[in-house]
Amino acid sequence: MCGIVGYTGTQNAAQVLLNGLTKLEYRGYDSAGIAVVQENSIAISKVTGRIANLRAKTEDGRLIPGLTGIGHTRWATHGAPTDQNAHPHASNDGKFAVVHNGIIENYMELREELTQKGYHFESETDTEVIVHLVEMYYTGDFKRAVMKASARLSGSYALGIVCADVPDTILVVREASPLILGVGIGENFFASDVTALVAHTRNAIYLEDGEFAALTPDAIQVYDCSGHPITKKTSRITWDIQAAEKGGYAHFMLKEIVEQPRAVEATMAPRLRNGQVVLDDLDIDLTGIRKIVITACGSAYYAGCAGKYTIEKLCRIPVTIELASELRYADPLIDEHVLLIVLSQSGETADTIAAMRECQRRGAKALAIVNVVGSTIAKNADYTLYTWAGPEIAVATTKGYTTQLTVLYLFALYAAKSLGTVSCQEYKRLLAALRALPKQMQNVLDMNPGIPKLAEKYHDTPSMFFIGRNTDYAIALEGALKMKEISYIHAESYAAGELKHGTIALIHEGQPVIALCCNEAVTEKTMNNIIEVKARGAEVLAVAFKGNQRIISLADDMIYVPKVDPLLCAVVEIVPLQLLAYHVAKENGCDIDKPKNLAKSVTVE
Ligand code: M6R
Repeated sequence: MCGIVGYTGTQNAAQVLLNGLTKLEYRGYDSAGIAVVQENSIAISKVTGRIANLRAKTEDGRLIPGLTGIGHTRWATHGAPTDQNAHPHASNDGKFAVVHNGIIENYMELREELTQKGYHFESETDTEVIVHLVEMYYTGDFKRAVMKASARLSGSYALGIVCADVPDTILVVREASPLILGVGIGENFFASDVTALVAHTRNAIYLEDGEFAALTPDAIQVYDCSGHPITKKTSRITWDIQAAEKGGYAHFMLKEIVEQPRAVEATMAPRLRNGQVVLDDLDIDLTGIRKIVITACGSAYYAGCAGKYTIEKLCRIPVTIELASELRYADPLIDEHVLLIVLSQSGETADTIAAMRECQRRGAKALAIVNVVGSTIAKNADYTLYTWAGPEIAVATTKGYTTQLTVLYLFALYAAKSLGTVSCQEYKRLLAALRALPKQMQNVLDMNPGIPKLAEKYHDTPSMFFIGRNTDYAIALEGALKMKEISYIHAESYAAGELKHGTIALIHEGQPVIALCCNEAVTEKTMNNIIEVKARGAEVLAVAFKGNQRIISLADDMIYVPKVDPLLCAVVEIVPLQLLAYHVAKENGCDIDKPKNLAKSVTVE
């Protein structure tokens, strides 16, 4: 995820910025840059790659002296990781520079408008529109220009902006992206993350959405969205660096679980425009497609298993889902009438790359759904839709999986509309349901404070079964994978109807069975399976919508989720299973963020 920092005071700004950016390295990034205000001008230095390169290029900041500046680590979203796309971005007159965290959703319209007005763009980023807007609105009043520019933006943004005409001032703006001000003595700071501040000060002001602030060495003035000065409380940062990196959470995995509503929103919101799904990067004629093949590994494969139901149901095209490690050697029946959907968080999984190449060789077009911009899969696919989840640090994927599902849902709706396989009414209904998902994920996080207690009860078991039918089964697959990879408990997912065909032989007194019962079309059937395993002594933890009294009376324990259409349910229903796996692993003292024998990105076969 991008990181931003800013400094105004009496020290060499570039050095403070470089140190601040170094503290943000853990978040992941692919380019970095700083801008320092000098006499009547702004000096900018940017590099692709590590902060160390930026240190070398600027001789540790000495080559660009100055007392006020802004800095950025970029994790590419709009445009590849290049020097040109790296922040800060400058206005055409060189008077302003901006750093930005977040996504500007209406940047295409703004870019068009600004281009028509004669502003030229140096990068492919969404961010660059901001600095040109500020230049356009500037008539000698920096604050007014920034306010007017911000009013034109939709999306999420934390901004730091400097102006050569007011060399000791930084303006910062916050909307749906974290921004913290560091209060010093004779110097002030801002950053997207407290880790960049604590070396200098532990006194912080947290901006709220819609607020902005002017920082000079001696003062911080915060304003509300209409520009009226407001008084903010200064808080004390008590976290140590390690806790701060994890946002105060004990593990990256927990932080990433909690980040999911925001990640899903960031993935979805820019693609929902004027009451429809808009996939700018997908210029594809679907009418000749006879079959969709989804391929991936691990959790990405399981995201495909759940997405298959949604695509088939809405598009009425057969979808098969293939493990990439199998597909690559399967002599697959693939031709130019197949659309291959490739799912990968990292974009570097060796088997997935090989499967994609094999299918492309046989004539299929590949649509990649990838989180890392510029990765091998993103570069080699015919079309790429990014999941804007931000970097995932924990080895066990959480937000990577849910944002992959989000893009599959978007694709299903988009394709169904263009193929005419969904009614107008159903399209509208599902769109509204899609928009509600981030809130419902948040509800799951809020309505299950009992999961750590359940983990205490269930952690001491050599094995667990996860059962469900239809979409519930697809989610059970990922739930079981989460459990085994971080808690090392053997966990097996089973299509509930298959139990009688063998697995029920393993059910004995006290055997934990996690029963997913959210797909109402098949809940009755799954309840019969619950009765069967209970009759053999199983301890059943059911996941269901609140209010389902029959399940409550059958199960030993309950986890509740809000009611969601089964076609979109996986992103919500998986959240409590991630939390359960997390807390069981914690009970068992496991190394949650780095489970044994696993790597974040499997770049070898
Ligand atoms: O980067 P990818 O999405 O291609 O990775 C695929 C799998 O290696 C990955 O999902 C793996 O299963 C994770 N450990 C799951 O948490």
